[in-house]
Amino acid sequence: MKYVSLNTGAKMPVIGLGTFKSGAGEVYQAIRWALKLGYNHFDCAPIYGNQEEIGQAFYDAFKEDNLKREQIFVTSKLWNDSHNPQDVLLALEETLKQLNLEYLDLWLMHWPIAQKKGISIPQSADDMISLSQIPLSITYKQMEEAQKQGLTKAIGVSNFGQKNLEKIISECEIVPAVNQIESHPYLVQTELIDFCKKNMIAVTAYSPLGAGEHISQESLLEDNTIVEIAQKLNITPAQVLLSWQINRGVVVIPKSVHETRLKENLQALNVALDSEDMQKISSLNKNHRYIDAKVFAYKDYTPDLIFA
Ligand SMILES: NC(=O)c1ccc[n+]([C@@H]2O[C@H](COP(=O)([O-])OP(=O)(O)OC[C@H]3O[C@@H](n4cnc5c(N)ncnc54)[C@H](OP(=O)(O)O)[C@@H]3O)[C@@H](O)[C@H]2O)c1
Repeated sequence: MKYVSLNTGAKMPVIGLGTFKSGAGEVYQAIRWALKLGYNHFDCAPIYGNQEEIGQAFYDAFKEDNLKREQIFVTSKLWNDSHNPQDVLLALEETLKQLNLEYLDLWLMHWPIAQKKGISIPQSADDMISLSQIPLSITYKQMEEAQKQGLTKAIGVSNFGQKNLEKIISECEIVPAVNQIESHPYLVQTELIDFCKKNMIAVTAYSPLGAGEHISQESLLEDNTIVEIAQKLNITPAQVLLSWQINRGVVVIPKSVHETRLKENLQALNVALDSEDMQKISSLNKNHRYIDAKVFAYKDYTPDLIFA
């Protein structure tokens, strides 16, 4: 495994396993396979609805395979319905219970959005809470408290643009360790990544393979440039996409529930791309988001403001 250093001094594995849409009855096996193949980083969230099954896989691996807690890096996230200060630590306790863990390695604010308690995906403006009512920094300060209590080794954010990051940096004590954002060759995110690097914030790319066909037919895995580079190097398109991120210092969390793909994706660690190919891939940028946040576009939340 290769690692990036976090501003806490901890090391984060550059490839992790994503678990969004890893369904019931399949995510347990995916985690057990992944551990056997050498994955040591797992990206989870309560909204994915599968943390209990993941927790069972960790529990069994601790028991049956002598896996030690400190050998894995586990990330989870605070859902938008728990931004109220009194709900933040309770949400973490619930996540830890589901995952069968005593602490997380990284806990992220999932979105810069506040929803009413119990709302998973908003259906109307009535489900939202304005950020003037619960500013992001108020929620983040509770996350700082969680880190101080040892319930998580590091805290960070997700889907934050530069303006939202600047607010957290100026109003809070702990600089986020990580910003987890959508990124792939159609959404290169150079400026935001540069800003994060300057501020000692590591970047994790979600949907690094283009989020799969469940969201869009515009498949990155079939892009001509990606396919050509893959053929030239005798590797797969997925390996090209993953190694491009790793080569520019970005962590990736590809999701799969198939053993052969888990193996294929992990092998991206061994791929080195030359600067010409790196450049060719970067030039595919068209600022295209597969996850466009329109689902949250109620009240004063617009996608532009969310990603600001
Ligand atoms: N912070 C956020 O707001 C946020 C948002 C979205 C995602 N995430 C995180 O990021 C992770 C990854 O993003 P994602 O799940 O959206 O998309 P992704 O990892 O880009 O793509 C996953 C899709 O690609 C398929 N796949 C995996 N490996 C493949 C390979 N080698 N060749 C061909 N197809 C392959 C998977 O299918 P199979 O499973 O059938 O193999 C699945 O359909 C998520 O699982 C989640 O943990 C975070």
